Amino acid sequence: MKQQDIGIDLGTTSIIIATEQQGVVFAQPTIGALDTRSGSIVAVGEKALRMVGRAPSHIELVRPLRDGVIQDHRMTNELIVRYVNEVCRSRLYKPRVSVCVPAAITGIEADAVVESVIAAGARQVYLVDEPVAAALGAGLDIRAPRGCMVVDIGGGSTDIAVISMGGRVRAASVPVAGNAFDTCIAQYVQEKCNLAIGPLTAEALKKKVACCTRSEFEGVMEVRGHSWETNLPARRLICTSDLYAPVQELARRIVDAARSVLESTPPELAADIARTGVLLTGGGSLLRGLPAFLAGELHVDVAIAPDPLNCVARGAAISLSEGKFLSAGFRDATPKVWRSRLRSKSDPFAGD
Ligand SMILES: Nc1ncnc2c1ncn2[C@@H]1O[C@H](COP(=O)(O)OP(=O)(O)OP(=O)(O)O)[C@@H](O)[C@H]1O
Ligand SMILES: [Mg+2]
Repeated sequence: MKQQDIGIDLGTTSIIIATEQQGVVFAQPTIGALDTRSGSIVAVGEKALRMVGRAPSHIELVRPLRDGVIQDHRMTNELIVRYVNEVCRSRLYKPRVSVCVPAAITGIEADAVVESVIAAGARQVYLVDEPVAAALGAGLDIRAPRGCMVVDIGGGSTDIAVISMGGRVRAASVPVAGNAFDTCIAQYVQEKCNLAIGPLTAEALKKKVACCTRSEFEGVMEVRGHSWETNLPARRLICTSDLYAPVQELARRIVDAARSVLESTPPELAADIARTGVLLTGGGSLLRGLPAFLAGELHVDVAIAPDPLNCVARGAAISLSEGKFLSAGFRDATPKVWRSRLRSKSDPFAGD
């Protein structure tokens, strides 16, 4: 790859790296496999993901980010260093890196991420918050004095923001996104069908069969798992209508969070959103029927951004050239700048 500055989406499900010129150049799952006997990391990314549910007992599959929070600092650091090194192979060119971190990250966690990016060879590190990056990556003109609303539904969290003139005016984050849908589907299958299914099967059910709105779609899928009745492997057919209730219950929690943001949005910006609608980004927004469900509940138009999984990484890369126009949600986090900021504030994104 030509030497360029990069944007990183440090996501719960995937770490995606993009450049402003080329778009997405790297994407791997946010997971690593740890050998608990030796303490060494034996696989990361796709290779580790293939081991889920199939690894021997001494191999622990670690997803270092959960519900928008860093749970395992060592693995997070390891993934960042390995992935950035894979993209930026040259030891001579030290890139500027803009990292999109989870909304609920603490100052100390952000500091650890910055250290990892520096260790991976960056000369300057910026932190950008997820809805701002998502809006930039989706091509919205967020510099204008006009309100736009972005709902980024990822794997671990849904981040909602009303943005105007380059900054967040209202925002909220809830730990309900793609992974929570997988969990609720697995629970439903366990309770109603007496069948334990793994997380990858639950995710496949979500993508192939689940739908938020009745009548939009009807599908069926055979799932295999472990029967609680016989204690043996078993299979069941699960159809779309089976999953309406659990899926809608969770989607309502996203609606409630979005509604409370809209309710507190100043009138002129609310009028803009009534005209332009709400933009969905993140992989979780691809849940069938979700845009229609949100539109019905919130009484505004709701559309999915083109290429919703990659908006945040693209936006993080774009933020490197647009940063000077962003009033909040974009911060120089290069250690000497960042440390003085941490000493004076607890919220790294708080306005000056
Ligand atoms: N076609 C699809 N239908 C439903 N869900 C999907 C589809 N494709 C991807 N997803 C879900 O999108 C989620 C991942 O989205 P994304 O990559 O935006 O998350 P992330 O950025 O890693 O997480 P976060 O922003 O919460 O840290 C997963 O839960 C995945 O199952
Ligand atoms: Mg994300």
